[in-house]
Amino acid sequence: MVGAAIGGRRWVSNKPYYVTTPIFYVNAEPHIGHLHSDVLADVLCRYQTLRTGGWTRNANGVYPPPTHAQFATGTDEHGMKVQRVAESQNVSPRALCDRVSQRFRALADEANIAYTRFIRTTDSDHAVAVASFWQSLVDRGHVYLGQHEGWYAVSDEAFYPDAQVRQVTRDGETWHESIETGQRVEWTAETNYKFRLSAFQAPLLAWLEANPRVVQPRGMYERVLSEVREGLSDLSISRPRARLHWGIPVPNDAEHTMYVWVDALINYLTAVGYTGGAPPPAWPADVHVVGKDIVRFHAIYWPALLMAAGLPLPHTVVAHAHWTVERSKMSKSRGNSVNPFEALAKYGTDTIRCFLMRAGGNLSSDADYSEAQLQEFQRKYLQGQLGNLLSRVLAPKIQARLVEHAVPDAPLAAPALVEADAALVEAIAALPARFDAHMDAFELSRALQAVFEVLALANEYVQRAAPWSPATPVDGVHRAVHLACEALRVCGVLLQAIMPDAMDRLLNALQVAPAERTFAALLGADGAWSTRAHTPVRAGATKIAPLFPRVP
Ligand code: MSP
Repeated sequence: MVGAAIGGRRWVSNKPYYVTTPIFYVNAEPHIGHLHSDVLADVLCRYQTLRTGGWTRNANGVYPPPTHAQFATGTDEHGMKVQRVAESQNVSPRALCDRVSQRFRALADEANIAYTRFIRTTDSDHAVAVASFWQSLVDRGHVYLGQHEGWYAVSDEAFYPDAQVRQVTRDGETWHESIETGQRVEWTAETNYKFRLSAFQAPLLAWLEANPRVVQPRGMYERVLSEVREGLSDLSISRPRARLHWGIPVPNDAEHTMYVWVDALINYLTAVGYTGGAPPPAWPADVHVVGKDIVRFHAIYWPALLMAAGLPLPHTVVAHAHWTVERSKMSKSRGNSVNPFEALAKYGTDTIRCFLMRAGGNLSSDADYSEAQLQEFQRKYLQGQLGNLLSRVLAPKIQARLVEHAVPDAPLAAPALVEADAALVEAIAALPARFDAHMDAFELSRALQAVFEVLALANEYVQRAAPWSPATPVDGVHRAVHLACEALRVCGVLLQAIMPDAMDRLLNALQVAPAERTFAALLGADGAWSTRAHTPVRAGATKIAPLFPRVP
């Protein structure tokens, strides 16, 4: 029963839940799209803690004790792209990395991203992990030295076969670019170490077919599946040191530097303590959050490398769509990147987190960023629904009427509800399971939509019940305040993962104790919403700062 109520998914192992973000290139300043990857991963990690914290057992099985979640984010610092940007800025790669990595860390801190490790690929434990991983690929016979000829896009740090490249002539200039990403490619012919990716076609197919939820959303899973079915060529995994010096050297061959994507992917292992040999306790990752542009690396190359090294494969790769600006891609060269620090400072961390997840939290379609839309979202939903409902129930006038009928300082028992309350009661009762099912499918936008629907119903109810009117009998006041508080409590508990600070203030105002803020506390033993006695807030003690202040 309880299992069904929380979406039917059970966590029966004691493995720490482990979520990752992509590690960010340090060639340019962070933009709002990078923040999106961070927030999505943070919400998933916080939500899992909320979901597991406090469950002990149910009729069907035993839930694990609250798991200690692990959450890694960080910066991807090696490779040709960073090497060239450093050259063009006349700084050492190390200095460039130190400066920009710090910006990404500051962004994560500003945005309340609760990482347990901020990893830099220049960290010394990462060099150890990468060398060990490489050595196990060699020892298991998956690496050989071969001749490589093909196109390389420095911007994508990716090789492309001939068929994926086109020639372009514009304004008298001719070049080649990747059809998929539009990035310029350059011809390379060199001796590289290669990974026998082709040998993993059948095992990858078997893994994908046995785990249809392993790549999300579904459309992305299908693309990965058809790419693997088409066949895989071996992957070049080193570059000559003479061309690429900014990277981790290949063990026992100082003439070669490791391909940056191999170095980068291994960060997920380093971050939870891998140094070679057996996988760390948190391994494998439960969720790798990635943008839609880097799915191939995470859903094909990474599982193949892990299989080759004899390590367990990730449970899920979740790909999110992108933010655009006036429908075009955000990029440094177009100069249209949205500065996330400015957005956080102007609108507040929780507003930005919630907006990113509501407007861009649909995995399949890109969302267009505009301040007008952000302002409307804040005004209509955060201030107009959530903030407004809270200030209504806390209004001294309304609280004073409840106090008249309460035993001083004792909780006011839940009122007897009547037929007219049924629609709202049902909506509140159904919300946790609806919310959870959307979260389980990584559809955060829909989860939020479900919350805002309930808040709209609750506001309409209060509007009709008019608890502020002297004509409303005290029973009507009590029912309206009770149901509004319950709607706020349930929404507040669920939204903690998305807006941790604002929901902490909301739940404090409603006098919900910290131990009552888990999913388990929201639902009774039978998995149904359980209502709560309500302590009237004393008149005069009700002032709290607005949850979502107006932007000056
Ligand atoms: N360094 C690689 C990832 C290595 S992971 C082992 C990389 N870095 S990145 O800085 O270019 O991108 C990091 C993440 O930001 C990716 O998930 C990417 O999809 C995401 N975004 C980049 N631009 C974006 C938008 N415009 N909108 C949303 N996300 C965006 O790739």
